[in-house]
Amino acid sequence: MNRRTALITGASSGIGEAFADVFAAAGFDLVITARREDRLRAVADRLSQRDQVRVHVIAGDLSLPDAPGRLCEELQARGLTIDALVNNAGYGIPGAFVASEWPRHAALIQVMVTAPAELTRRLVPGMVERGYGRIINVASLAALVPAPAGHTLYAACKAFVVKFSESLANEVRPAGVHVTALCPGFTLSEFHDVTGTRAAVRHLPGWMWMDAPTVARQGFDAVMAGSPVHVTGRVNRTIAFLARHLPRRLVVALGRGTAWRHRKI
Ligand SMILES: NC(=O)c1ccc[n+]([C@@H]2O[C@H](COP(=O)([O-])OP(=O)(O)OC[C@H]3O[C@@H](n4cnc5c(N)ncnc54)[C@H](OP(=O)(O)O)[C@@H]3O)[C@@H](O)[C@H]2O)c1
Repeated sequence: MNRRTALITGASSGIGEAFADVFAAAGFDLVITARREDRLRAVADRLSQRDQVRVHVIAGDLSLPDAPGRLCEELQARGLTIDALVNNAGYGIPGAFVASEWPRHAALIQVMVTAPAELTRRLVPGMVERGYGRIINVASLAALVPAPAGHTLYAACKAFVVKFSESLANEVRPAGVHVTALCPGFTLSEFHDVTGTRAAVRHLPGWMWMDAPTVARQGFDAVMAGSPVHVTGRVNRTIAFLARHLPRRLVVALGRGTAWRHRKI
């Protein structure tokens, strides 16, 4: 039997690894990518044994402009067609926008905006042709609330992901391709270590956090159901609702206060 195949970026830890779990458990073969090949191989060994699925490891750095093209060439060379794409790889840069030089910001945009858009552009025509596709673009609750200090580029990139996904969902839905922007709030992963905000978020209450497997499960269910935007968890959905409906000036002021306490910009 020909199984479907899911390509997951940033699958070496956190939400991406949890997505690999969920898709493998649902019977998808996998292509997993990130920079840390040893971590990818450990995920591949675990899931191929647990779920009897094929897991292909293609290590790469999505901050390199030619990475999406090279990844797709490698898929072609291995004879792989992609039925589901999870654009998940991402991180943040700590501190104020002007505290980092442009090349660092340019790499962030490459990983979180250009690479997901290019991978989608390269892979969606095949999905449309075959009449089946599932695309999850991992955005963030940060895309839906007023951006506090220090979220300058991160929140803007995630807002792009939401708008991109909403529009594309309308374009390709008639062809059997579902697109979902997944908007998690605080999620337990390596994200806050990489981003340098661990100390700032350590004292946030437990009810503000979700675990990566729950976030990935909700993302999987949302794309299968054809939901264009999914905010994970009731707490985050309430925050998104309030951000949409309370007076803008009040929400901006609340966001600013929270940022001073938790981000210390
Ligand atoms: N955790 C949260 O609170 C939270 C909330 C909202 C949204 N998100 C979003 O969720 C997504 C996953 O983050 P996470 O929480 O699971 O964090 P994580 O545990 O740090 O995972 C990030 C993944 O992205 C990969 N990655 C980072 N830079 C890369 C690059 N240049 N090239 C290729 N892969 C790269 C990492 O792999 P390598 O280091 O091996 O390359 C890793 O697999 C991100 O898009 C993040 O913005 C997270």
